[in-house]
Amino acid sequence: MTSVVHQQLRKDELKSINMQSVSEDNLNLLEDINSKLFPIKYSPKFYKQVLLGEIFGRLCLFNEECIGSILGRFQPLNFTNDYKGNFNTAGAKEMNEFAEENFPENRNPQELYVMTCGVHNKYRRLGIAKKLLDCIIKDAKEARDIKQVTLHVQTKNMAALNFYFNYGFRSAKKITNYYRNFDDCDAYIMTYKL
Ligand SMILES: CC(C)(COP(=O)(O)OP(=O)(O)OC[C@H]1O[C@@H](n2cnc3c(N)ncnc32)[C@H](O)[C@@H]1OP(=O)(O)O)[C@@H](O)C(=O)NCCC(=O)NCCS
Repeated sequence: MTSVVHQQLRKDELKSINMQSVSEDNLNLLEDINSKLFPIKYSPKFYKQVLLGEIFGRLCLFNEECIGSILGRFQPLNFTNDYKGNFNTAGAKEMNEFAEENFPENRNPQELYVMTCGVHNKYRRLGIAKKLLDCIIKDAKEARDIKQVTLHVQTKNMAALNFYFNYGFRSAKKITNYYRNFDDCDAYIMTYKL
């Protein structure tokens, strides 16, 4: 079977995928898929923020298997570009301080920051990450008047760079030594204007 036919078959099968909002009911699936997709082990504090709705997202389910996930949070507009220090995966304290300093009159435009996005390697190049990103942007727009979407990508992660560039993101800035404990510790900040 040629890979084109194989991919078409997969695309047809995948018409039955289900994009679920992350909630208490499927948190175990999120933890499981994230442990397979990402080299970082996310802390209980991180998943508590998911339960509180401070971090939100979608899971992609296919035949009862979770094959992809995306997570994000709201933050002050340009926080990622303008904040000079380091912030951890939670970042709530830093974000609040930044918002108070930069938006003292409580005019607080927002952006969606995409924290993680990944698809099981058996199911890549079938448009699933694009669907996950479409969903989280739609969710965020329905909840708040967001102006842009921002994220960090490792400078050598060509799959992710191509994926985000193809979606319409543009590289705003390179940050050296953004990631700790990785071979590729530099990152690009990428931004997608809505
Ligand atoms: C990056 C990633 C999420 C893409 O997921 P995906 O479901 O395969 O992406 P899609 O099928 O939606 O891709 C849409 C478009 O992005 C581009 N793209 C995606 N993966 C690509 C790759 N490996 N090489 C080149 N372009 C790529 C293509 O233009 C693709 O369209 P096409 O297949 O019609 O050419 C996936 O490779 C992944 O999970 N990587 C590991 C985790 C990771 O690094 N996440 C990003 C940082 S959090």
